[in-house]
Amino acid sequence: MESAQGRITPSKRRTIVRSVLALGLALACVSAVKREDFKTCSQSGFCTRNRAYADIAKENPQWASPFQLNPSSLRLSNGVLTGDLINVQEDKQPSDKPALAFELHLLDTDAARVRINERNPIQPRYDGVQDTVLIKPYGHATEGSYQKLSKDENGVLTIQYGAQNQNTVRISSAPFKVEFLVNGVPTVLLNDEGLLRFERLRNKEEPKVEEEGEKQEEETSSDPLVEQNAGGNDIEIAIEKSELEKKLEENLWEERFKEFTDSKPRGPESFGMDITFSGINHVYGIPEHASSLSLKATRGPDAPYTEPYRLYNLDVFEYEGDNPMALYGSVPFMLGHSKNSTAAVFWMNAAETWIDVEKSPEDKNGGILSWIKSKKAVHPAATKTHWISEAGVLDLFVFLGPTHRDIFRQYASLVGTTALPQAFSIAYHQCRWNYNNQKDVAEVDAGFDEHDIPYDVLWLDIEHTNGKRYFTWDEAKFPNPTEMQESLSSKGRKMVTIIDPHIKKDGDYYVSKEGADLDVYIKNKDASSDFDGWCWPGSSQWIDFYNPKARDWWASQFSYDKYIGSTRSLFTWNDMNEPSVFSGPEITIPKDVIHYGNVEHRNVHNLYGTMFHSATAQGLTHRNETNQRPFVLSRAFFAGTQRFGAIWTGDNVASWEHLELASPMLLTIGLSGIPFSGADVGGFFGNPDAELLTRWYQAGIYYPFFRAHAHLDSKRREPWLFGEPYTTQIREAIRTRYTLLPFWYTLFQEASVEGTPIIRPMFTEFPEDEAVFGMDDQYMVGDAILVKPVVKSAVVRSNVYFAGKEKWFDIKDYSVEQGPGFKDIDSPADKIPVYQRAGTIVPKRERPRRSSKAMENDPFTLVIALDSKGEASGRLYLDDGESFNYEKGDYILREFKVSKGVLSSRKVESAVPASSGESSFAEKAGGLRIERIVILGATTPLTNVTVGDRTVQVNCAQVGGSYVCTVKEPQVAVGKDFDLSFA
Ligand code: NOJ
Repeated sequence: MESAQGRITPSKRRTIVRSVLALGLALACVSAVKREDFKTCSQSGFCTRNRAYADIAKENPQWASPFQLNPSSLRLSNGVLTGDLINVQEDKQPSDKPALAFELHLLDTDAARVRINERNPIQPRYDGVQDTVLIKPYGHATEGSYQKLSKDENGVLTIQYGAQNQNTVRISSAPFKVEFLVNGVPTVLLNDEGLLRFERLRNKEEPKVEEEGEKQEEETSSDPLVEQNAGGNDIEIAIEKSELEKKLEENLWEERFKEFTDSKPRGPESFGMDITFSGINHVYGIPEHASSLSLKATRGPDAPYTEPYRLYNLDVFEYEGDNPMALYGSVPFMLGHSKNSTAAVFWMNAAETWIDVEKSPEDKNGGILSWIKSKKAVHPAATKTHWISEAGVLDLFVFLGPTHRDIFRQYASLVGTTALPQAFSIAYHQCRWNYNNQKDVAEVDAGFDEHDIPYDVLWLDIEHTNGKRYFTWDEAKFPNPTEMQESLSSKGRKMVTIIDPHIKKDGDYYVSKEGADLDVYIKNKDASSDFDGWCWPGSSQWIDFYNPKARDWWASQFSYDKYIGSTRSLFTWNDMNEPSVFSGPEITIPKDVIHYGNVEHRNVHNLYGTMFHSATAQGLTHRNETNQRPFVLSRAFFAGTQRFGAIWTGDNVASWEHLELASPMLLTIGLSGIPFSGADVGGFFGNPDAELLTRWYQAGIYYPFFRAHAHLDSKRREPWLFGEPYTTQIREAIRTRYTLLPFWYTLFQEASVEGTPIIRPMFTEFPEDEAVFGMDDQYMVGDAILVKPVVKSAVVRSNVYFAGKEKWFDIKDYSVEQGPGFKDIDSPADKIPVYQRAGTIVPKRERPRRSSKAMENDPFTLVIALDSKGEASGRLYLDDGESFNYEKGDYILREFKVSKGVLSSRKVESAVPASSGESSFAEKAGGLRIERIVILGATTPLTNVTVGDRTVQVNCAQVGGSYVCTVKEPQVAVGKDFDLSFA
């Protein structure tokens, strides 16, 4: 077999065989990640060089950044400040090399953007990430909305900006530094540590042929200088480069890793800069890592990690917990939070990136300390981060909030919010590698009905195809795919098939042939031939989604006449799109392969999977149905992925550790702008026992994307296979998810407008409670529901933290807990702690059915948890669940509020005018009734409940110190305003 590198060598063949075996063989016992397949920082030239630079800076107490802004070059106009940035170490004369171009943009959303690029590079640096990541256009702050204050005596330029003039940016020229302040408090500092480093493109110098004499001269030139120290003793000062300085020169051009050589034809072009979160000691984000929510230190004396967090989309087999290794997706977004401030940054770069995190108990002696002294404020901590990217331009957004919601909105206004999913896709998905044939599919489908367990989607993995040729069927196993889908669809159910980005090299396979004819494959480094590598189908090619022609052609593959056997109830799973290449370095594609427009893959690696995801979503949106929302699950992701569909956390393991890991991973992904995510319920590799599987379902019903999945060689584990009591426990869990679907769907709608996470870390809901800043073993669903998964075997009591000063109500038995504080709560086998927060209203549908579609005409229940003032609020969003008609206003959005003993329902006015007419969804569904209202936390039993002059039946029971009152059939509809009074 051939590869990009030429013929496959025996050792490469061994690697491939190992990978395929590893992925394909049964896992009797769970083994660990193959760390040696993946680089550490010291095996990556640019990471080594930038980290060494940081070490040199740290070792030198006199260190000052050599970068200086040329003050006379600064210009500010229309919200943009520009200037020349000079490295005084490299450019002894300002005219030595063209300076770097510095830009600071003030945006109309109160965010800011900082860019540093080469002014006249020998060839352009890649600057195209913005074209695919940013939803354009964004506006700049208008003249007059910001104020330039004159430079102070130290040459510091200050600009005040923001709707309330709350933000300040201070730009120091020598050394170069940019400080963002909120209400006068330093918050995000750029180059405060002086780690800015920028490798300018250069021509490769041919190695000199050393003459004997020259060599000798060099050897003797390291003669030490002799000086005297203070005590008068002779000391030797070596003029040799130190070990660290030598590292600055390492691996500038070709670079080897294992049997692979990265040719790096453009040479070194990395850059790095420190970003300090001042006064902040918790930072979050930069998924994807199997690690905690609050990021751990990777530098400094007590750092738990020694490696930086790495962002490089990779197919990591059996990834390990508590580890900063790169995984399938990358979002270079980091949010810092303290009791007093919240700020975030987005480092818009799709090349390989490493991030060091250092916690500093005290801010350093620089500007901050003097600020503290002058203001006599307590300003103790800082988190210092060091960002290192291999290529491209330095392009950074800074968001100063002031609240989390502001940050999420500011970030989403740049990269987009989550697409509103089809309603079925937030229900339960049943997957395994593989459902073997149509009979198997029919039996599994029937199994759900037999056991009264709802589900919405059945998934087919790679074995359903004809020899891993996507868009085809194994005709022996799936002779009639249309009939199979129609049978599922008759029960309101859907099917998903897998479509990967590698195309089997086979002239008889129409997709392969069309791709070749259209010339849409990624090219080898010399751009003259198509890259070919090894993946599931054997020798394969990868579609170049950077080519617009490729994207359109790919999208067209989803029309029913091309994808034979597909129907309107068939949706798509995009896997292996990091991309995973079994024969490539680090199981991915070489960095020097070439995309459309002569773009080296190195520049866009972390975006490749998203380009694929987006083209697939485009295909589903525009297949013959023109008014159906797409559903596409992707494994790889980047900033902006949320616009195209859901993601999941890849190949986890059927272990308690991985169940525990899922919460911090999903919380991190969610707060980084991608709310629609899940982890394989049950664990992909290995075999969960009944207890682990049950606990995983109980946790998984609170993942935004809720899918069970299992490896080819794991034992079957459909929800009923372990028998009682597990079947009942799993049924109960899945049904709970279904009852809460109206609440979830409402949260998705909010996320699609506001960019808010759906499952939320405790700190975003309780931003002033330091006890929750590092908490990731319990979390909130929206603002209303607290979940604490059980993640250890044989646990029957869980220590739950009840935040805030209000009450919390168990969602099953309505028992009451009072915050704030930790409390041990019963969590027997059939239950994990889940509580509704006082002050909220949760809409539900409480009639169990076989699928979410079957529930669409069901009435609603409102669960009202009163706070200590007797108040509560919540929303319900409803639309047809599948079309784009909501964009034209065909939806119902109600605000429910309780105040002074009256529950009111009012329409939420929105920017999109509501459509009217009898055929509209809103018109038809508006008549659906609210059949039950449960009021929790009443201090006295309610006796007199009325709607207008009509009295409505109410029953109350005492639970703990308060009453639970159920109002039955109040005869009110979801689409109409009403006031229900109770006393
Ligand atoms: C890797 C994916 O992560 C996994 O979910 C899938 O089952 C296999 N590829 C086979 O397609």
